[in-house]
Amino acid sequence: MRPGVDKSLEHLVEAVRSEVENGKAGKHRDGRAVRWRFRSATPADLPRIRALLSSAGLPLAGFDSQPKRFLLAFRGNALAGCALLERHARAALLRSVAVAKRERGSGLGGAMVRELLARARAERLRVVALLTTTAAGYFPRFGFQRVSRARVPAALKATAEFTGACPATATVMRLDLERTRRKRTKA
Ligand SMILES: CC(C)(COP(=O)(O)OP(=O)(O)OC[C@H]1O[C@@H](n2cnc3c(N)ncnc32)[C@H](O)[C@@H]1OP(=O)(O)O)[C@@H](O)C(=O)NCCC(=O)NCCS
Repeated sequence: MRPGVDKSLEHLVEAVRSEVENGKAGKHRDGRAVRWRFRSATPADLPRIRALLSSAGLPLAGFDSQPKRFLLAFRGNALAGCALLERHARAALLRSVAVAKRERGSGLGGAMVRELLARARAERLRVVALLTTTAAGYFPRFGFQRVSRARVPAALKATAEFTGACPATATVMRLDLERTRRKRTKA
């Protein structure tokens, strides 16, 4: 086989492998199996992320501060969901978790949150916090607990979401990764 052909085949195999590895399966509300492709965002994705966040009623302030840390989910070419793990030192803010209305209830929100929490663990972050006015009942399934603002690391309290995008009445939630890591090590 010629070296050029060999190289392009290698790329094709890599693309297929990454597609399979990054794919997530779910079940649509109507019972059909669905599959989403995950990838990190690039700055060029910001306009469609903005559109998805707006349609989900989520705040836009500061959403574009760490574009490459956005996780995007696609069905075909359509953006089905997004979620951001905004990192500040050894802590992160989980924000902008949005699923397109037609995709809701199929497990996509959960798949994105779990993926980002796995990344937070891989990065050995200590704490992940979030603010929500709409989904305080959703996040406990991932281990988040309601806390007062005082229990949030200072670096997160200085973020655009904390300082203005979310109202002071928003629910604050926290997941202590250090503690869960210690529990796992003991077990
Ligand atoms: C919240 C959201 C991301 C969930 O995504 P999803 O893909 O529909 O959720 P999943 O399929 O993973 O999970 C479905 C489950 O979550 C529950 N759920 C969904 N949205 C919820 C909410 N706002 N509050 C409490 N529970 C919720 C469903 O009732 C369902 O419960 P069940 O498993 O007991 O049947 C999505 O509804 C959304 O984009 N909402 C608008 C934006 C928002 O509020 N984002 C969160 C704040 S950052």
